[in-house]
Amino acid sequence: MRATQIVLVLFWFLCIHTPTLFCANVEYDHRALVIDGKRRVLISGSIHYPRSTPEMWPDLIQKSKDGGLDVIETYVFWNLHEPVRGQYDFDGRKDLVKFVKTVAAAGLYVHLRIGPYVCAEWNYGGFPLWLHFIPGIKFRTDNEPFKAEMKRFTAKIVDMIKQEKLYASQGGPVILSQIENEYGNIDSAYGAAAKSYIKWAATMATSLDTGVPWVMCQQSDAPDPIINTCNGFYCDQFTPNSNTKPKMWTENWSGWFLSFGGAVPYRPVEDLAFAVARFFQRGGTFQNYYMYHGGTNFDRTSGGPFIATSYDYDAPIDEYGLIRQPKWGHLKEVHKAIKLCEEALIATDPTITSLGPNLEAAVYKTGSVCAAFLANVGTTSDVTVNFSGNSYHLPAWSVSILPDCKNVVLNTAKINSASAISSFIAESSKEDIGSLEASSTGWSWISEPVGISKDNSFSQTGLLEQINTTADKSDYLWYSISLDYKGDASSQTVLHIESLGHALHAFINGKLAGSQAGNSGKSKFTVDIPVTLVAGKNTIDLLSLTVGLQNYGAFFDTWGAGITGPVILKGSTNGNTIDLSSQKWTYQVGLKGEDLGLSSGSSVQWSQSPFPKNQPLTWYKTNFAAPSGNNPVAIDFTGMGKGEAWVNGQSIGRYWPTYVSPNAGCTDSCNYRGPYSASKCRKNCGKPSQALYHVPRSWLKPSGNTLVLFEESGGDPTQISFVTKQTESLCAHVSDSHPPPVDLWNSDTESGRKVGPVLSLTCPHHSQVISSIKFASYGTPLGTCGNFHHGRCSSNKALSIVQKACIGSSSCSVGISIDTFGDPCRGVAKSLAVEAACA
Ligand code: GAL
Repeated sequence: MRATQIVLVLFWFLCIHTPTLFCANVEYDHRALVIDGKRRVLISGSIHYPRSTPEMWPDLIQKSKDGGLDVIETYVFWNLHEPVRGQYDFDGRKDLVKFVKTVAAAGLYVHLRIGPYVCAEWNYGGFPLWLHFIPGIKFRTDNEPFKAEMKRFTAKIVDMIKQEKLYASQGGPVILSQIENEYGNIDSAYGAAAKSYIKWAATMATSLDTGVPWVMCQQSDAPDPIINTCNGFYCDQFTPNSNTKPKMWTENWSGWFLSFGGAVPYRPVEDLAFAVARFFQRGGTFQNYYMYHGGTNFDRTSGGPFIATSYDYDAPIDEYGLIRQPKWGHLKEVHKAIKLCEEALIATDPTITSLGPNLEAAVYKTGSVCAAFLANVGTTSDVTVNFSGNSYHLPAWSVSILPDCKNVVLNTAKINSASAISSFIAESSKEDIGSLEASSTGWSWISEPVGISKDNSFSQTGLLEQINTTADKSDYLWYSISLDYKGDASSQTVLHIESLGHALHAFINGKLAGSQAGNSGKSKFTVDIPVTLVAGKNTIDLLSLTVGLQNYGAFFDTWGAGITGPVILKGSTNGNTIDLSSQKWTYQVGLKGEDLGLSSGSSVQWSQSPFPKNQPLTWYKTNFAAPSGNNPVAIDFTGMGKGEAWVNGQSIGRYWPTYVSPNAGCTDSCNYRGPYSASKCRKNCGKPSQALYHVPRSWLKPSGNTLVLFEESGGDPTQISFVTKQTESLCAHVSDSHPPPVDLWNSDTESGRKVGPVLSLTCPHHSQVISSIKFASYGTPLGTCGNFHHGRCSSNKALSIVQKACIGSSSCSVGISIDTFGDPCRGVAKSLAVEAACA
């Protein structure tokens, strides 16, 4: 053995046997996770690796780090990694090890939530479909076949992470792992077996010997040494099940997920920041945003039913990987403010006192350190409170953070950070559409046959449940029947269909007669479709489809889908009712085009003859050039119905622009004060739930890209457009009572803090400079970004001062004081509002 090898072996030996010497030793106590003997306050954020591309990971992780995160949390997606039992896949977006290493390279920690049940709005909650077909299996309970598979996969992942030396105990970034997921929310449905299952899961996980702690979320009976953690919009009231465990928050929902048919949820940052500050005020030391970057449900990975393709989640980094302002910026300030309190937070428990109705102070004080949090949890009134001999103005539903127990470094409701308006700009990207195709539109097409067209179809008496039949190999299952109709020449009748969901297209004699879909709240539906039968032979072809398999709830794996009936022809002119339910049906799993691999675009049968619009069951193909520049790309599917789309053979997900959200239930500006819920703040009512679909830049070549669509119900692909996401305006609105930016915090309180509030703007790209000031007003300006206007009082110097400070620079700061702007209205609270453009 050479000297270097001996050193390496020695290092390895010491690392394994005396972890504190070289490797991080992760433990916990009543206050916090303890890394290398030091309690830590940790800010974490969820990024699910398959919801973006490996090319996006470094940038997403860097933006997370810049936003003040210490930890990246991800689930592990069993059905991605083991699509066929015993056949593993860790390629591309599925490269878990690469993702973990990318996080490590940025110097951040990882929380690996193995599950392997993950929920996550992910198809079937992350379970592979083959699991369902193991004889005698019952999911998520004390069932031997299930436990054997769960253990095998969990051990597989743990071994992989160990082999790559990625646990902190080996010098890697993984400081924490999760087993199961929110089982406590539904365990009562599983009776006594739930208890033994959870005990087994805890023992199984612990026995894998990762060298770092395990958590279970929403599991108040999590056995020692597993830490039970909280998930929710607020977790300040949570306490772990033992005084030896720290208070941890594994899912602080930064927004909410979108469903096809629903409006777009958002969560105001003032409320999110309030929730975070309240958690640290009341003893928390680990907090994770679910999601920090939500991303995209590519392919058929979205759960359901009806989870949309976008998993944007109103997260601090948007679906496209751009920072969302002011959310990202304000939370960054919150994180800095909390870190200024870290010494005090880890030193002791808070002393909590009431300062009046809805008013609460928490003080962390020991020895020379002191940090305080002052909260107004009232939802209507701003209040001035007295604390330790000083008075503090506390807006309703806000927390002020005082890293020295005296000066306010931040109030969660006062946003210094700039906001941004972005828009999707149509690109003329179709320049080479048509160059590869002869037809004038640039599109070629193939018809998907109605009804049975494949050799592997089969017939059976009665109506079959869909998931058991397709094993989720495809969204589609054809139910076909022929009947000899003895009625009039062309007879009106009604086809009555009852389905477990999720959607259906009914064809009579080859023609689309009607469609129906359930919704995210209720996937079952009943539909009565008026049909015209001919005398003699008629074919009824029902295309039933799933839109993401159920991912949540007790026994969710058994809920089923498809046309389980009854299916009845009723009320025909001669009064006959024919129950078709227990007749002989012919079934076809999936589409002919799926078997032919049309999604890659390479088949030779594409037709260029006159091009069908609004024709159900059509595959379309075109070529296109990538939109110029570096801005993220989306396809606007307005004009199409429902289907799936592939770019250069990669599925960008299901599209469904015709599923429009209800007209009611949206608010233009949602009042952040008061408890948030998933339905509280929604936008985009009466519009398509999702019209725009992300195409990762890394999937595109400069030109000659292939786009393939499978359209179910009918659409006009010539209306499709490519758009890029760009920032149009930057805005900030800072009042004279805002604290200065956290970076200017100076704990030298003796000399008094001289800095006042500051308004700062930074262009999104380093290469850009502020090119114009669209609006500036100091006084009592009103409105929001994009429609600011002057209030009753305004300084006439504001515009020129801001122009001078900002134009030509990539970022600028302007102090807010009457020394600078003069006083346009004495004795009145004033603010500065600015809207700028970057170029
Ligand atoms: C939680 C679950 C997550 C995710 C979230 C909603 O209940 O643990 O996986 O589904 O809800 O986005």
